[in-house]
Amino acid sequence: MCGIVAIIGNQPVAGRLVDALKRLEYRGYDSAGIATLYESVMERRRAKGKLFNLEKLLSDEPLAGTIGIGHTRWATHGIPNETNAHPHFIEGVAVVHNGIIENFSELRDELTAGGAVFTTQTDTEVVAQLVARYKRQGLDNRAAMLAMLNDVTGAYALVVMFADDPDTLMAARFGPPLAVGFGRGEMFFGSDAIALAPFTNEIAYLVDGDCAIIHRGGAEIIDFAGNPVERPHQISQATAFVVDKGNHRHFMEKEIYEQPEVISHALSHYVDFQTHTLRANDTGIDFGKVSGLAISACGTAYLSGLIGKYWFERYARLPVEIDVASEFRYREIPLSKDQAALFISQSGETADTLACLRYCRDEGLKIGAVVNVSESTIARESDAIFPILAGPEIGVASTKAFTCQLAVLASLSIRAGRARGTLDGADEKQLVRHLTGMPRIMSQVLNLIQPQMESLARDLSKFKDVLYLGRGTSYPLAMEGALKLKEISYIHAEGYAAGELKHGPIALIDENMPVIVIAPHDRFFEKTVSNMQEVAARGGRIIFITDEKGAAASKLPTMATIVLPDVPEIIAPMVFALPIQLLAYHTAVFMGTDVDQPRNLAKSVTVE
Ligand code: AGP
Repeated sequence: MCGIVAIIGNQPVAGRLVDALKRLEYRGYDSAGIATLYESVMERRRAKGKLFNLEKLLSDEPLAGTIGIGHTRWATHGIPNETNAHPHFIEGVAVVHNGIIENFSELRDELTAGGAVFTTQTDTEVVAQLVARYKRQGLDNRAAMLAMLNDVTGAYALVVMFADDPDTLMAARFGPPLAVGFGRGEMFFGSDAIALAPFTNEIAYLVDGDCAIIHRGGAEIIDFAGNPVERPHQISQATAFVVDKGNHRHFMEKEIYEQPEVISHALSHYVDFQTHTLRANDTGIDFGKVSGLAISACGTAYLSGLIGKYWFERYARLPVEIDVASEFRYREIPLSKDQAALFISQSGETADTLACLRYCRDEGLKIGAVVNVSESTIARESDAIFPILAGPEIGVASTKAFTCQLAVLASLSIRAGRARGTLDGADEKQLVRHLTGMPRIMSQVLNLIQPQMESLARDLSKFKDVLYLGRGTSYPLAMEGALKLKEISYIHAEGYAAGELKHGPIALIDENMPVIVIAPHDRFFEKTVSNMQEVAARGGRIIFITDEKGAAASKLPTMATIVLPDVPEIIAPMVFALPIQLLAYHTAVFMGTDVDQPRNLAKSVTVE
């Protein structure tokens, strides 16, 4: 999504603004811009594409000034070009915005009828036009800001700079995140703590309905009616160093190879690696007392939740209702106060997931958040936080967050089983031992399969359509494999329950559509092999991802067979995630796509 940064200080800000925007690149964007105010003159530089285009522009035409605002734009209204790039200027009012002004069309008509001349296709310009109109009507900057905020509806994080006031910046939040950064003689706004880390780690997150006014000596936070409010300061954990790629070509590759290490961090929060037992930490949700679980998330996070559903139902006999967040809250599911709800989100800012959380909270459910950012909005609005401790995930395609989510969900399902009496101490010890042995196995697998993945990806990159099949927990994994491939290589891919092949997709089978079958030698293996026979009988080409037992048991001809070690069932989804991640990664590299920031995608979708 879009990224916002603003600085009011005593040293030149243009370069600092661009550096802060670089730390927001991971959110995905298609244009960028900054504006500064110097000797009562407000100027801006904006550029389509990546930040180095803006840097080049600034080196040719530098900007002076110790107060400024910056923005990376992910286009929602209006094509990605310089004209539509932020900041937007109207009569000495400059605005940067993340989110959607839902009533922008009516406001645009009203303003146009009043003589306003619009120069962009964006919803954001309405904000600048409104503030300028109120100023023309004689309101001071603060009153004009509040009047605008009471006109617009939608989801937005905004920062406004005024040409007639070099000592103030104003901001507002209703939806996408925005934080105030506290410096010494300088103050900041930023979309998240990562952007502000080089300047300060003392931050205060605004909440919906907050308007903040900062000057070099501090901040004032008020509600939209102008009443003062207090927001706690916190010391952010975000690192001051931009995460780098190490010796990898892309963040995604680095994050795939980080998985054994970060999964150890994740697991160590929930299980004891010495005693192979669950840690006694209070999880904030007593699974022994809940009658059922609702799980909701988006994208890859949803798919990890789908695997979690299998585990909660199998190990804890806990009924689980799950759906993608954009559907869940409109189904009017009969929920009750004795249920709990789990929301899974790497960023902790996904608008659909947050809206679903608020829906379940209003229904009286106990709320748990499985998140990678413990300072995020979803975390802060939950009763219980289950950190996945994956570290910053920069690649837009989620990899280490996915497997860390699974590790946490597996730990929680064992905890739920113990709380509900469906697992005894011996069961716990055995399952936890499987989990604690997983990082070593994942390291082995990554080294084992790397060469084969690159050569297979070269073949796969020639196809236009790919089908992934799996049963049991390999079914959501098949969908995750398809999602990984399509989102970074742009090859069309679908993940299907293997048992559903005969109910439609088999019509697609021919030599032009490879079928990737994910099948550890588990309870479903034989049935999946019969699906493979149906594919082979129709000239379909199979890429078989199995284990040693599976490879020995099936003699079917394949385009390729990837053999992983035999692993306990509970860790199979995390281990079998590795080949599907690497296959997608190397295919995308062959396709020459922007692997870390694929077209049209954002790392955190903060609009519904
Ligand atoms: C996954 O590779 C995608 N980047 C996307 O589906 C992502 O998982 C989804 O947008 C949810 O994001 P979140 O985990 O930050 O809520």
